[in-house]
Amino acid sequence: MKLVPSMRTTAKALKTSGFKHSLALGAVVLLGACTSDRFQEPMKLGGRWISSSTLNLGHDTYMNYCMQCHGVNGDGLGPAAQGTYPPPRNFKQGAFKFASVGAGELPTDEDLKYTIRNGLRGTPMLPWDISDERLDAVVQYMKTFSDVWKDGEPGTPLQLTPDPWGAERSEEAIALGKKIYHGIAQCYTCHPAYAPLSEINEASLETTGNAVASIRENAHLSTLLDSSYGHKFMPPDFTKNFIKTGGDPESIYKVLGPGINGTAMPAWKGLLSATGSFEDSEKNQWALAYYVSYLNTFRFDDKARKAFFESLAR
Ligand code: HEC
Ligand code: HEC
Repeated sequence: MKLVPSMRTTAKALKTSGFKHSLALGAVVLLGACTSDRFQEPMKLGGRWISSSTLNLGHDTYMNYCMQCHGVNGDGLGPAAQGTYPPPRNFKQGAFKFASVGAGELPTDEDLKYTIRNGLRGTPMLPWDISDERLDAVVQYMKTFSDVWKDGEPGTPLQLTPDPWGAERSEEAIALGKKIYHGIAQCYTCHPAYAPLSEINEASLETTGNAVASIRENAHLSTLLDSSYGHKFMPPDFTKNFIKTGGDPESIYKVLGPGINGTAMPAWKGLLSATGSFEDSEKNQWALAYYVSYLNTFRFDDKARKAFFESLAR
């Protein structure tokens, strides 16, 4: 522990004794294990004043764990970023995909912490088991990369409703979810269709009153779509791919409401009922979550997945 203050004195001594060129080297040594004094003043970020000691701790945490992918300057071009898909987020852009808030709004600290703690499944973004103090500090430090946090404040989390189905009614939920998916929501315009045209037509008639005469070619495959992050995203095939934020119904319900900011994935909050009833839409959103979670179980079982697709072609 004694090392920490003595290393700090070294960098300060270098500064005062005029060894300007050695300073960079001193800084690199410092990044190893101890708190730098990069920030001398508090900063206002996301509508709150953040102390310099928090920012310094955040900087050290970032340089230890995050810089390899997200880059020294937060530009997403760290040494380990090359060739990864998806590429690490460029924090200079000040845009985030996964949050509890409305489209285009800034995420809350809780949203960012959740992503860091849980990781994004199937991507190089792993879950980070760091102390609460470091977690908070690194979240605040990340905000120094983009001007959006200087004046901007986090958005308001969308309303969440409790699961109206529960495990004992999951089959009912899955059946309704399948209808919503292929009916009113038309999720298969980007994700795969998991039903033949005749059933899609029925689902549409039942949930919207409109017939569907045809669907896109190769509707059993996803379509690669643009995003505002400088690269494209493939909508997951739920029977095969990871769901980044989690495959259980609750996680899926949560990601459906706000959608995925900056990608083609729409925000579905309140839009899943033909009558415009918020209550119905919530019930349907939960049903969809059960259905997508059910589809995701085939991910572990190639044989069952094959049988599932064969049963669709009947
Ligand atoms: C091995 C590479 C790697 C490391 C190390 C890494 N990340 Fe990431 N991170 C990623 C990738 C890749 C994504 C983008 C995933 C995507 O777009 O689906 C990402 C995305 C993010 C996002 C954006 C989530 C969103 O909603 O858009 C945050 C915040 C984040 N990382 C924070 C961190 C923090 C904090 C650390 C260090 C504690 C860290 N990351 C370390 C690879 C990494
Ligand atoms: C206009 C295109 C489009 C439509 C329509 C669409 N999605 Fe998506 N969806 C996407 C894209 C693109 C992604 C991948 C984004 C990413 O990887 O970050 C995605 C990702 C997802 C995810 C994964 C979330 C995660 O945590 O990784 C789920 C779940 C999802 N969509 C469900 C649905 C459901 C259910 C519907 C219909 C109600 C739907 N989507 C309609 C484009 C779409």
